[in-house]
Amino acid sequence: MLQALVSLQMLLGSFLFLNMANSNLASARSSKQDEFYTQFYDIENEINAYLEYNPDVFKDKVVLLPCDDPEWSNFTRFFAQNFQSLGLKKLISTSYAPKSKLMDIHYTPSLFEQENPQFELSKSETHGKLFVLDKDVTGDGIINIEDLQWSYLDGNGDFDSEEVTKLRDEADFIITNPPFSLFRKFFAWIMESGKKFLLICNKNCASYKEVFPYIRDNKIWCGKTPMGVDLLFSMPPELEDDFIQNEKEGSKYRIVNGKVMGRSASVWFTNIEHGRRHQPLDLMTKANNLRFSKHKDVRGLQDYLHYDNFDAIEVPWVDAIPSDYEGVMGVPISFLDKYCPEQFQIIGITQSWDNLATKIYPEQIQVAKNGKRSRVTKLNDGAAIKVDTPPTDDVYYIVGDDIFTKAYVRILIQKVNEN
Ligand SMILES: C[S@@+](CC[C@H](N)C(=O)[O-])C[C@H]1O[C@@H](n2cnc3c(N)ncnc32)[C@H](O)[C@@H]1O
Repeated sequence: MLQALVSLQMLLGSFLFLNMANSNLASARSSKQDEFYTQFYDIENEINAYLEYNPDVFKDKVVLLPCDDPEWSNFTRFFAQNFQSLGLKKLISTSYAPKSKLMDIHYTPSLFEQENPQFELSKSETHGKLFVLDKDVTGDGIINIEDLQWSYLDGNGDFDSEEVTKLRDEADFIITNPPFSLFRKFFAWIMESGKKFLLICNKNCASYKEVFPYIRDNKIWCGKTPMGVDLLFSMPPELEDDFIQNEKEGSKYRIVNGKVMGRSASVWFTNIEHGRRHQPLDLMTKANNLRFSKHKDVRGLQDYLHYDNFDAIEVPWVDAIPSDYEGVMGVPISFLDKYCPEQFQIIGITQSWDNLATKIYPEQIQVAKNGKRSRVTKLNDGAAIKVDTPPTDDVYYIVGDDIFTKAYVRILIQKVNEN
């Protein structure tokens, strides 16, 4: 008995250790991504979409770039360089104290900083900085990055501090790539401001219960850059070494022109209007999809599969959405960057927190691809598809005499009727 207890304890211990190791790895990953810096080209490409839609979108406006750092960041560079052509009233950028960062990054003050009489090395390590551009300081007749002035913040530059929140409240637009590890907190900070914003986020954020309801209700949407585009980020030199030693090339980073660039499945989220989101998808009818779709899991079917626990059909590909189906359809998350609110309405998501499931399954037996069986309840957190025979190349679930597969997270949509 004692021996059984000891080995149970050891099993639990190693389970906990593994879980801790996994979650430490996940948090180490996201703290590394906290130091991913956005490329100039990606910022320019995205901002151009808002300017195409409304050339005066930033005219006489105050833009705040929090969680930034002009030493590294292209956001400040882009907006400072284009200050006049955008017609900006004021550009504010705040940086975070090097000593407060989750990663231990070697801090080297720039010449720009050191040449300033107010510069103090220890203060630069422990304080955030405030950069402001609102007038021609150099007297050369143009307002650009040369006119950027800086001072120390009272605190470390935490976006959630009183002083940065005050700057948020002064701004018309808040634009940044925030620290990934603090995304939920940052997003709440943005949404409570009621300001216009443009943020780079991890694609998974779209399905968070803190984010998705805003997407469903058309309060926020994807930017212009498609979700499938591989956004690459630069990083501090010590992180480059870390990535080469510990991460997988091609998956977590790529080497571009000899430089290590971090990869992260990213998407821009915004509440600023742009034209792409009003372009409807060009789609085939249901009958034509079933006959001619390029996807072999659609072509040749008698009909689209219907979920067992949601009143909706499964549409595994965005380009296989039937143009003439009147009911609810479950579509991949990648639909969001093609979503045109005049064409479809978003009803919900197949996550249990959205409470749209029509039934709850009792405990299930999950059969992994390698045949391993375990008792789970996860079929309830997704759309279940009843199958006649167990798939050979997919995980499946047994509930009583029934067999199910589970679709990836699906957005539930329905056609907008013109009249
Ligand atoms: C993903 S990086 C992006 C930097 C820059 N916005 C860019 O896109 O190039 C996020 C930055 O936020 C900083 N940061 C981390 N925690 C922060 C906090 N609580 N408040 C403000 N900035 C923070 C990180 O150190 C990092 O410099």
